[in-house]
Amino acid sequence: MEKDSVYGASHTKNLQFNGKLEFARVEMRYKECLQPALNNLSFVVEPSEKVAVVGRTGAGKSSLYQLLLGFRTANKGCVLIDGEDVSKIDLRLLRREMNVVLQHPFVVQTDSVRKNLDPRHEFSDQELKEALTKSAFYLNAENED
Ligand SMILES: Nc1ncnc2c1ncn2[C@@H]1O[C@H](COP(=O)(O)OP(=O)(O)OP(=O)(O)O)[C@@H](O)[C@H]1O
Ligand SMILES: [Mg+2]
Repeated sequence: MEKDSVYGASHTKNLQFNGKLEFARVEMRYKECLQPALNNLSFVVEPSEKVAVVGRTGAGKSSLYQLLLGFRTANKGCVLIDGEDVSKIDLRLLRREMNVVLQHPFVVQTDSVRKNLDPRHEFSDQELKEALTKSAFYLNAENED
């Protein structure tokens, strides 16, 4: 469910994250009747710190980003970015400041390749071609208009 209308814009300030992340005694259940996917989880990641989360299938790795990007909310505890509760941050701002590379990639099929790459139209065609060439998705950059 899109939570825009639920969260509203209670924090309308222009976010620029430093990147301190804190999970504080987080419990998250996909349904009340199910066991928690995350159970009393607490950790802190400092700005610029690189962290890898590993665990067997079903351990809860993807559930972390569901909370981080505001697709779901914690049933108990809270998730803080730079000390701000993510559930209080405007979703558009939150998602503009975060990137996720999904396990199962998807393409918005009703739109152009360009819009999938750059939904907010922030980059020039040339910049997109350079990025595609570097990642070996676009091999004939020299011969194209
Ligand atoms: N949409 C959902 N509805 C109900 N339960 C879910 C849902 N998504 C995940 N779960 C359950 O939540 C728990 C954590 O799942 P999660 O997808 O976060 O694990 P994961 O560590 O990312 O696993 P994988 O390595 O397979 O990607 C699992 O028990 C899973 O079955
Ligand atoms: Mg996963």
